[in-house]
Amino acid sequence: MNVGIDRINFYTPEFYLDLKDLAEARSVDPNKYLLGLMQKQMSVAPADQDSVTLAANAAKRVVDGIDKDDVGLIIFATESSIDQSKSGSLYLQELLKLSNSARSFEIKEACYGGTAALMSACDYVRTHPNKKALITASDIARYGLNTPGEVTQGAGAVAMIISKDPNIAAISQDNEVYSEQIMDFWRPNYQKNAIANGHYSQEKYLEFFKTVFEEYINKNKSDFAALLFHVPYSKLAYKAFKIACEKIDPSTREMLKKRFDLSIDLNQKVGNIYTASIYLSLISLIIQDPSLKKGDKLGLFSYGSGAVGDFFSIELTDRFKKSIDKKTIVEQIKRRKKLSIQEYEQFFKEQTEIEAKEISIEQKTNLKDFRFLGIKKDQRQ
Ligand code: CAA
Repeated sequence: MNVGIDRINFYTPEFYLDLKDLAEARSVDPNKYLLGLMQKQMSVAPADQDSVTLAANAAKRVVDGIDKDDVGLIIFATESSIDQSKSGSLYLQELLKLSNSARSFEIKEACYGGTAALMSACDYVRTHPNKKALITASDIARYGLNTPGEVTQGAGAVAMIISKDPNIAAISQDNEVYSEQIMDFWRPNYQKNAIANGHYSQEKYLEFFKTVFEEYINKNKSDFAALLFHVPYSKLAYKAFKIACEKIDPSTREMLKKRFDLSIDLNQKVGNIYTASIYLSLISLIIQDPSLKKGDKLGLFSYGSGAVGDFFSIELTDRFKKSIDKKTIVEQIKRRKKLSIQEYEQFFKEQTEIEAKEISIEQKTNLKDFRFLGIKKDQRQ
């Protein structure tokens, strides 16, 4: 039985920062960001968006038109959680009017959370073939103003419906995983911003990639139509891509490079969205490469600091082109409003200064859909 991604959608906030402006404000050569890190812009979340509203805005379209009673599992993957105890998935369930008989929980392992959710959802559908799962990967990446990680921030969410006979891609059960306790990137409970051992985290990402990729190609064919990566910033994914190219048939390198460039296009404009980054890359490739076809095998490297590396493949199925709303995704990126550095810094402060007190949040988005209104009696509205 084929199980995998039946529907997928992406949502990002309505604001962005141009990294040339950030470079100027931080007295850095813009080429460090544009060429050195291969990033162009980053989406910025206003105070009226959080990981739940981002996920709900992404998920709204994927649940439209399906029988809500079929959704038996909801998994909310994030590393920008709004609560230490209660799951973001329960808010989603209410906002999207999903069935109360669904199993509903949050999952965490840094940027690997989205893949952990995907694999768990596939296992669920394999044992409950008449059911579907909703998974969301949703994050606001924050390192802090004037930090080395600042340029690698971002905000957004990807939502997917996982089912049997999927419209977009079947998930092959060929994962090669490596996990080990390391301190490359983390966010202790008392911190609003992540802590990164930046250069060590780069080394570990590449080391984990080599380990799982070599193991994978020792056991499986390397007949990839494309290779996709977790994209904390595009240069690191490109370094992993080049390592992969040394180990596969040289005649496919040119095609893989063309597709790699298409796969990072949206990530270069949105920035790091942690759990959702690799799935944004998948969307970026599918909506921009008309030459992809049914049966193509895509290799994916998912990485979550702390750390877990997982290399696996997916196979594109019958209706993958028609099942992604390209127009809405492209327009969403175009419609974003460019922020000045002062506005961005103000947004950043407002996001991080929301405390558990009675507040109502000034409306920044034009959304008709979901926004965070504030806190009343310790309850987020
Ligand atoms: N023109 C062109 N290139 C330039 C340049 C210029 N003027 N100045 C510098 N560069 C290049 C450098 O040579 C370097 O490229 P290479 O790595 O290919 O040599 C690149 O720009 C970056 O320069 P630095 O290493 O000096 O940059 P930095 O010390 O300021 O830190 C960073 C970069 C470590 C990525 C930092 O932004 C950071 O800590 N980010 C957050 C952590 C992170 O993203 N880690 C990734 C792995 S962890 C993970 O994957 C999980 C996750 O999502 C967080």
